[in-house]
Order: sequence, then structure tokens, then C-alpha cells
Amino acid sequence: MHQDIERILFTKEEIDERCIVLGKQIADDYTKEGRQPLLVALLKGSIPFLSTLMQSIPMDLRFDVVDVSSYEGSESTGKLNIRLGIDYSLEGMSVLLVEDIVDTGRTLSVVKQRLMDKGADEVKVVTLLDKPSRRVVDLKPDYCGWEVENEFVVGYGLDFNQKYRNLPYVGVLKREIYE
Ligand code: IMP
Repeated sequence: MHQDIERILFTKEEIDERCIVLGKQIADDYTKEGRQPLLVALLKGSIPFLSTLMQSIPMDLRFDVVDVSSYEGSESTGKLNIRLGIDYSLEGMSVLLVEDIVDTGRTLSVVKQRLMDKGADEVKVVTLLDKPSRRVVDLKPDYCGWEVENEFVVGYGLDFNQKYRNLPYVGVLKREIYE
């Protein structure tokens, strides 16, 4: 375990297993509705989750990415920089946003609206982690790996000042590192 990590919350094996369950549920739901999802991952944190999750969804799908940043250190700066980069029409599409963690919910609600404005039929959300106690906007993920307490977590894509994204697990960062 990395020396800056207080404890591991979810190992790679646990994340793999959870993605298999989520992937099957997603494939079942979209197949039942006769729809094919366009997965849209929020850079950069959700890339490892996107990679594992999409391989666990047993149906045809497409994926794209949007570049969003708002955090510096362990607190949101409140200002969102969004580079959508999707230069085609989303008319009639079912978008499934892929996020690493939902905190206040601000990022996803803004991105969701931008994608609806581009004509998407529906925009759903799948997140690896959810911190519901921190929510300030009304947003509930449609699919979620796990709910977590209000602690700062890193690894498996999640960072603190761009560090720890490559850890193969999700762990709680020691307070002395970010305080
Ligand atoms: P929201 O807009 O407040 O929901 O912020 C969501 C974004 O905040 C996530 O995509 C992460 O980049 C970042 N974030 C929130 N909590 C954590 C955390 O515990 N560790 C690392 N990043 C976090």
C-alpha cells in the first residue's frame, strides 16, 4: 500500500466484481428499452472506471469523453471548465455519463444539461462512488458502485493534485497530506 494512504476501501478485485454486476444491469436495462447507450466519461478521473465498466457491459455501445475540471487540492474551486468536444448531434441518443465520484453534484448537473441542450433523448449517470452527504443539487446517480463517507479518497483514477490516479485500488488519503 502507498505510504500516503490511510486504508484501502475497495481493491481492484472488488471493483472488477462490482463492474460485472453494474455492467449486466446496464445491458439488461438498455436492451429492455431497445436502446444502445453512448457512454460519456468525464476526464480524467473516470478513465480507469470507464475502461473496466465498458468491458463488463455485454452489448454494442459507443463511448466519448468530455474534459471537465473544477478541483484544486481537496476542495472544489466552484468554477467549472467544460470542454465538451462532442461535435456531432446527440439527437435521439441515450447518454450514460460515467463519473468517478459524485460529490456536490454540481459537475454532473451542468454536464447533463449541456448534453440535453445538444439534443440527447435522455442522460443517465453511472458513478463508481457517491458521497450523498455532500450533495448541494438534486442529483441521484442511476447506477452506483458504492456510497462512501465524507472522506477524501484517491486511486483508480481519483487524484489529489493529479497524484495517485494510477493506484489500482480506492483508498482514503491521510489527512496530513491535504491539510
Ligand atoms: P462535484 O461537482 O462536487 O460533484 O465534484 C465531482 C468531482 O470532484 C469528481 O469528479 C472528482 O474529480 C472530485 N472529487 C470529489 N470528491 C473527491 C474525492 O474524495 N477524491 C478525489 N476527487 C474528488
